[in-house]
Amino acid sequence: MHWLSILALAGSAAAGSCPRAFLESLTSQYLAAQTAGDPALFPSLAPNGTFIENDVKLARSLCDPHAPGRQHATWHVAAVDSVVTRPGDWAFNATGYLYWDSHENWAVGPYEKVATDRAALQAAADEYFDRFDNTSVVIPLGTPCARLKGGAYTGRGNLTADACDIGGFPNNIKVTNQKYIVDEAAGVVDIFEGFPGLDRSEPTRPVPDSHLFRIINGTIRYIHTVSHCFNTGCGMNGTLFGKRSAKW
Ligand SMILES: *[C@@H]1O[C@H](CO)[C@@H](O)[C@H](O)[C@H]1NC(C)=O
Ligand SMILES: *[C@@H]1O[C@H](CO)[C@@H](O)[C@H](O)[C@H]1NC(C)=O
Ligand SMILES: *[C@@H]1O[C@H](CO)[C@@H](O)[C@H](O)[C@H]1NC(C)=O
Ligand SMILES: *[C@@H]1O[C@H](CO)[C@@H](O)[C@H](O)[C@H]1NC(C)=O
Ligand SMILES: *[C@@H]1O[C@H](CO)[C@@H](O)[C@H](O)[C@H]1NC(C)=O
Ligand SMILES: *[C@@H]1O[C@H](CO)[C@@H](O)[C@H](O)[C@H]1NC(C)=O
Repeated sequence: MHWLSILALAGSAAAGSCPRAFLESLTSQYLAAQTAGDPALFPSLAPNGTFIENDVKLARSLCDPHAPGRQHATWHVAAVDSVVTRPGDWAFNATGYLYWDSHENWAVGPYEKVATDRAALQAAADEYFDRFDNTSVVIPLGTPCARLKGGAYTGRGNLTADACDIGGFPNNIKVTNQKYIVDEAAGVVDIFEGFPGLDRSEPTRPVPDSHLFRIINGTIRYIHTVSHCFNTGCGMNGTLFGKRSAKW
């Protein structure tokens, strides 16, 4: 599974804020380039654009310096940052991910638009991680609410009544290096961060991790996590994977 963040920078300081349509076109370009294995399908990438996968800067560049069109673009892509998981990563199960995701409501309708602005959306998502090292923090959890970790679902099988407030939060974990993507129109926040303690085989080293939050009317409804393991199975000796777990 592939969680993506694309950093676009203006070609000139006067260009103002990056248009949403352009950002959406980047995702299409990136997917087309990946699917076809053809870097020319990602013409908005800057000649020196950076690729980062699970916190590692890739030496290989997908960029074709002769790709047509780039020279006309006002905006270009400075960096593509991704959290990528494969078998052996935390609770990895692409089939399970697709299955549970398709049963949740991620639709954007009038009620979701009840405006929560960027700062409020980010604050709600931040509370989740703030709780990880401060038990006084109250996470704004709504109902239904469920966590999908890799492909493992914490929901108890009732998609209208599932709750996230079922304990199992850590109280001494401080995630690091948060990077935010906030989509106000969709009520969605994605936080890329480093999650120490997740990989038991290297407990102090922050694991490259993505937490995606669906926030409706100020409350968190769905949380999807994608977490890399430094060593296969994150040092859990096969005791976690394939099983439903309430922990984290
Ligand atoms: C890429 O090139 C642009 C334009 O020359 C420059 O401003 C930017 O700092 C460069 N980025 C990196 C990562 O080298
Ligand atoms: C992956 O998820 C699917 C759908 O929920 C499930 O049927 C399957 O058993 C899971 N595989 C593993 C290895 O847990
Ligand atoms: C969100 O809040 C509005 C206004 O209070 C309410 O009408 C709407 O039903 C709420 N939506 C959900 C999904 O709870
Ligand atoms: C813990 O959270 C509470 C409630 O938000 C806050 O008042 C307090 O300052 C926090 N403590 C620390 C050490 O951040
Ligand atoms: C889910 O929970 C709600 C509220 O407790 C209940 O009304 C409903 O019957 C439950 N649905 C199923 C399929 O168990
Ligand atoms: C996994 O196995 C190793 C070696 O036996 C052990 O040191 C470690 O505590 C085990 N980890 C867990 C999470 O059980």
